[in-house]
Amino acid sequence: MSYPYQIQSREEYDSVYQKSVADPEGFWSDIAGHFYWRKRWDKVLDWNFTEPDVKWFSGAKLNITENCLDRHLGLLGNKPAIIWEPNSPEEHHRMLTYRDLHLKVMQFANVLKNNGVTKGDRVCIYMGMVPELAIAVLACARIGAIHSVIFGGFSAQSIADRLQDANAKFIVTCDGAFRGNKEIPLKSVIDDALVQCKFVEKVIVLTRTRTPVSMIKGRDVWWEDEIKKVETQGNADCPAEEMDAEDMLFILYTSGSTGKPKGVVHTCGGYMVYTNYSFINVFNYQPGEIFFCTADIGWITGHSYIVYGPLSAGATTLMFEGVPTWPDAGRFWDIIDKYKVNIFYTAPTAIRSLMGYGLGPVQQHKLTSLRVLGTVGEPINEEAWNWFHEHIGKSKCPIVDTWWQTETGGILISNMANVTPGIPTYATYPLPGVQPVLLDEQGGEITGNNVTGNLCIKFPWPGMIRTTYGDHERCRTNYFATYENQYFTGDGSFRNEEGMYRITGRVDDVLNVSGHRIGTAEVENAINMHAGVVESAVVGYPHEIKGQGIYAYVILNNDQVDKELFKKDITATVSRIIGPIAKPDKIQFVKGLPKTRSGKIMRRILRKVAEGEMENLGDTSALLEPAVVQEIVKGKL
Ligand code: WTA
Repeated sequence: MSYPYQIQSREEYDSVYQKSVADPEGFWSDIAGHFYWRKRWDKVLDWNFTEPDVKWFSGAKLNITENCLDRHLGLLGNKPAIIWEPNSPEEHHRMLTYRDLHLKVMQFANVLKNNGVTKGDRVCIYMGMVPELAIAVLACARIGAIHSVIFGGFSAQSIADRLQDANAKFIVTCDGAFRGNKEIPLKSVIDDALVQCKFVEKVIVLTRTRTPVSMIKGRDVWWEDEIKKVETQGNADCPAEEMDAEDMLFILYTSGSTGKPKGVVHTCGGYMVYTNYSFINVFNYQPGEIFFCTADIGWITGHSYIVYGPLSAGATTLMFEGVPTWPDAGRFWDIIDKYKVNIFYTAPTAIRSLMGYGLGPVQQHKLTSLRVLGTVGEPINEEAWNWFHEHIGKSKCPIVDTWWQTETGGILISNMANVTPGIPTYATYPLPGVQPVLLDEQGGEITGNNVTGNLCIKFPWPGMIRTTYGDHERCRTNYFATYENQYFTGDGSFRNEEGMYRITGRVDDVLNVSGHRIGTAEVENAINMHAGVVESAVVGYPHEIKGQGIYAYVILNNDQVDKELFKKDITATVSRIIGPIAKPDKIQFVKGLPKTRSGKIMRRILRKVAEGEMENLGDTSALLEPAVVQEIVKGKL
């Protein structure tokens, strides 16, 4: 398989980009022509950003799994689709060819059907990084069920909120997950969530850790038993459900500026075309190469660049169950040498954390198979970029700095390996079909170069968000109401003299902690649930490894308590309500918060103090009680 739409040179990028803007419909319809559709579309694009209402490939019929699996069987049937490296290097790895994966997806799709799942049902998937996670995702897509994967680091309460929001009656999980030297009791977390979710009808449990679990009669079944039933029924086949291009493919919850995570909805046709196109072009993937993305499938990066992008391209995708620092900080480099990985895609936070271990763990490895490197999830600082380039890429591998979001479905701004230049800290140029603009606070477009503004996209692309599940108005107000006729990203950006974009970070109340999106309001809500807390305010501050750390200012209702114990209690509360990923790094107890006369917290001041900038707090004359600021400055951690 080769890719007729893989861009080969800078000149070609320039001309393809021109065409994609001049005639977006012609451009995307040419690309889409390379996929397998049961029926072609009647119309390439229908859109308005007011409602918003965006439809790509209207009238087309397809199933994404036929594009990810069936269509490869002829040429690539015996080629590896998924290589799986377990948490422990002692355990044997697994390899699934396209034929194996096809069979396993059909089997599990039949299991889902046997358990009552039908087209349009929401299925929540809460699993560790085992091949069965990818199998479960694809099995849902096979029968037209809508998957909603929840990252293993979320708590029972977060799961319950998501199950309720999606009204998901089916769950696929594991007894437990291995992560480094830890064992996460996934099924037990699900059981806690289900105390509040009586509407859940079936829980399918895969055996992984052999952690003891309580299987509830009539509700809980073992994955392995269900597969055996399907095998004895003797019907391995599961024809793919015919889906409309705009039918929902999945829901993925993500944080915004409000306290409640929103269910970002992606649809079948556009998402498929976009993840495939961006995968092939950004990474310059060559047939036969091994692609290793270190993300978890619980995040959008895993959806788009472990599962759908690579598999739709007939690529070999490597899935890793463990963590980068266990059993030691050379684990990624071991894996790269072991499987001769060609393309390695990871997060700046992982690079920074591994830098901290020095060059020892790197020098024991060859890393000669590497051809392309990539980063995602947060801005990469120059020092980390240089280290990655020199010590991992041996100064010969391009690094693609890929900017995108859960809502964008795939990479929107990035250099393309061996095609367009990469420079540290710049995501650089938009992909074909992507039309970024910078706007000022009033909504005026900032033209020209060497300018900074709020990053918006003014024209639809196939992989974009269609709605927020169950609440379309929320989608409109969040993304399409700030600026008329624009998709607002929530990020700020600088554009240099060559028209390259450098993402400067979120301009809203969303934090980016180790590449994970966390809303400050969410963390505040969780802290405020603690009985001893009156009020709290959460801001981000620069953190050497995580990018951003979580800084919480907390007012207690009784000052005469053991403060250290209270910090632990509050941390435990956040862990229970959201999950360990949202634990505050610093908690400062204060008597008051800086508020305006109308009662609004002046976060600007809190942010400055957390960042260590105590001198220049700006105008505090609007404050109700200017004295609280001195107290906050004095008590800074
Ligand atoms: C940030 C992750 C700078 C950005 C795919 C965005 C980045 C948020 C980059 C989305 C990058 C992502 N450079 N910042 N290359 N990539 N971001 O939804 O603030 O988990 O809005 O999607 O991460 O995070 P999300």
